[in-house]
Amino acid sequence: MAKLGGSVITDKSKPFSYRPDVVSALSEEIASSDQKVVVVHGGGSFGHVVAKQHGIGTDAGEAPAVGVAQTRGAMYELNRMVCKTMLEFKLCPYPFSPYDAISRAGGASVSSWLKGLLKEGLTPVTFGDVGLAPSGFRVISGDVIVQELAKTLEPERVVFALDVDGVYEENTRVIIPELTAAKVRRMKVHEGDDATGGMRLKLDMAAKIAAGGTSAYFVSGYRRNEFSKALRGLDFYGTVVRS
Ligand SMILES: Nc1ncnc2c1ncn2[C@@H]1O[C@H](COP(=O)(O)OP(=O)(O)O)[C@@H](O)[C@H]1O
Ligand SMILES: [Mg+2]
Repeated sequence: MAKLGGSVITDKSKPFSYRPDVVSALSEEIASSDQKVVVVHGGGSFGHVVAKQHGIGTDAGEAPAVGVAQTRGAMYELNRMVCKTMLEFKLCPYPFSPYDAISRAGGASVSSWLKGLLKEGLTPVTFGDVGLAPSGFRVISGDVIVQELAKTLEPERVVFALDVDGVYEENTRVIIPELTAAKVRRMKVHEGDDATGGMRLKLDMAAKIAAGGTSAYFVSGYRRNEFSKALRGLDFYGTVVRS
């Protein structure tokens, strides 16, 4: 499974700025990896910007219907672009809303459905979403989706493609090659101004994934060779989180 970070596939500093070149390169690597990959992408300057404008965050609460519609619309728009690029680079994307799939079907049947699609040579592609919880609407981070899907699908590994080379030691730019789930939970990390929890949430999800027996890899989405190695389970420059 691969998570293409919103910071990688868009320019987070500019609203609605998609990066076709980056997604092209990552798609080529996925296509040539010979791996069956489920792809989850973030919202970047599509989802986060719109969600924030309307005060929609990770805690469920009152949200204007127009804000829900626009945030979800922005994610579908980005997803459309990602899928178009994937198609150009020899992948057969099969887009779906994670919220709809997981909330309606439940984990076990989502897993067998995804396996069926993978067997047919399709690449299931999903994204961060807006969902209705009992107490209102909330944004669901792509990182949470990754963790939910990993729990039921039990992939060989999860690769997080980032706009940085891996996980830094606190207050430095030194990449930590290997971490355990327990160590990850103890790490001090700034949340950032991401609408869905930034690196803190990502690390919490990686700790859960690792504790469940699947290694989580953190690699730069700008270094296609490193991304490719991570995807294949080879040594790469970045961070591995194990149980
Ligand atoms: N310890 C850390 N190691 C690496 N990146 C960190 C760390 N703490 C904060 N960050 C920030 O987290 C960002 C990645 O999180 P985020 O923007 O949410 O990515 P994504 O768009 O993939 O979800 C990086 O750009 C980096 O600035
Ligand atoms: Mg994020």
